[in-house]
Amino acid sequence: MDAATGRHFLQIPGPSNVPDPVLRAMSAPTIDHRGPDFAELLSGLLRDLPAVFGTSDPVVVYPSSGTGAWEAALVNTLSPGDRAVFFETGHFATLWHAMASRLGLRAEIVPGDWRRGADPERLAEILAADPGHEIKAVCAVHNETSTGAVSRIAELRAALDAAGHPALLLVDTISSLGSIDYRHDEWGADVTVSCSQKGLMLPPGLGFNAVGPRALEAARTARLPRSYWEWGPMLEAGARGFTPYTPATNLLYGLRESLRILGEEGLPAVFARHERYGRAVRAAVRAWGLEVLCADEREYSGVLTAVLVGDEHDADQVRKVILERYDMSLGAGLGRLAGKVFRIGHLGHTNDLTIAGALAGVQLGLARAGVKTAGDGLAAALEVLDDH
Ligand SMILES: Cc1ncc(COP(=O)(O)O)c(C=O)c1O
Repeated sequence: MDAATGRHFLQIPGPSNVPDPVLRAMSAPTIDHRGPDFAELLSGLLRDLPAVFGTSDPVVVYPSSGTGAWEAALVNTLSPGDRAVFFETGHFATLWHAMASRLGLRAEIVPGDWRRGADPERLAEILAADPGHEIKAVCAVHNETSTGAVSRIAELRAALDAAGHPALLLVDTISSLGSIDYRHDEWGADVTVSCSQKGLMLPPGLGFNAVGPRALEAARTARLPRSYWEWGPMLEAGARGFTPYTPATNLLYGLRESLRILGEEGLPAVFARHERYGRAVRAAVRAWGLEVLCADEREYSGVLTAVLVGDEHDADQVRKVILERYDMSLGAGLGRLAGKVFRIGHLGHTNDLTIAGALAGVQLGLARAGVKTAGDGLAAALEVLDDH
């Protein structure tokens, strides 16, 4: 590597950069998870965390990755053979659907082109064709991290309401929570799935389920096998400030600090900051003469931008050049997008100059990798950022 000095630029769409105060908070000694100090820590978190989800419903905190939190949402609410509808918005929606099939659900996926979010009109048609209410869950990924398209969850909810359909709405906010406006209560989500390593600016290792009353009711009769993921013991122990098994104590210290940081900036300002970074990065991409993967401007992501490099180039080669020469990690194209796109993460612990630095690295790297660009993307981005 030519550039071994200075800080590595971690511009993948999660795990994201962890602020120093969060790292310091996590370096405190591990405490007895059955003692009074822990009860105070967890009780405070369980009180403060729901606001980030836009809810007053309880949030279950697992020592897990996001995949575990996906599984928890499904196994607590559904029974073998239940119909569940997914939308093929990209790699992560595809994986969640595959998990549901493996768990024994009758999981269906609405085909998609990996360039847009879940289609509320298509959902309305599917619900209209299910007068017997066989569909028990509609599962959507809010911010599809593989594509940078944001599904319009409120419109999915409206489709369910218009059809008078009782299916649960399960939403993956793994890469949107704490970065893109999300409202569990207002948008009528029944379970919101998330985790620690993206907008919450923590390392990987915490999985979350925000659990609405209809989901809790469904859990009483749901028959998919579950043990580790069972909400009941988590909620019961949580009410006393404890967990039924060993928690990720030091990550919880970090979570307390990250909630403080988010609270200090204020969620509306956090969302606006991400939206602005998205605009700056898209301006750069367009000025380079390249294409933003997300094809619907209502669904642009403030968290990441996936960039198509064109058929004559290999996006992984571009990423390799940028890593080796500029010590910057960009997100790879996933699944069917492998080699076709690279993804610029612009989430979390980020400011104008990290965005500008990242775009400078991409611009130099594109040239070095032999990708011809039309113009100065960095200058176009700086114009967006120079907005005060
Ligand atoms: C939208 C989305 N869902 C699910 C996952 C899976 O989460 P994990 O890798 O933490 O298990 C990811 C991971 O990046 C994701 O971005």
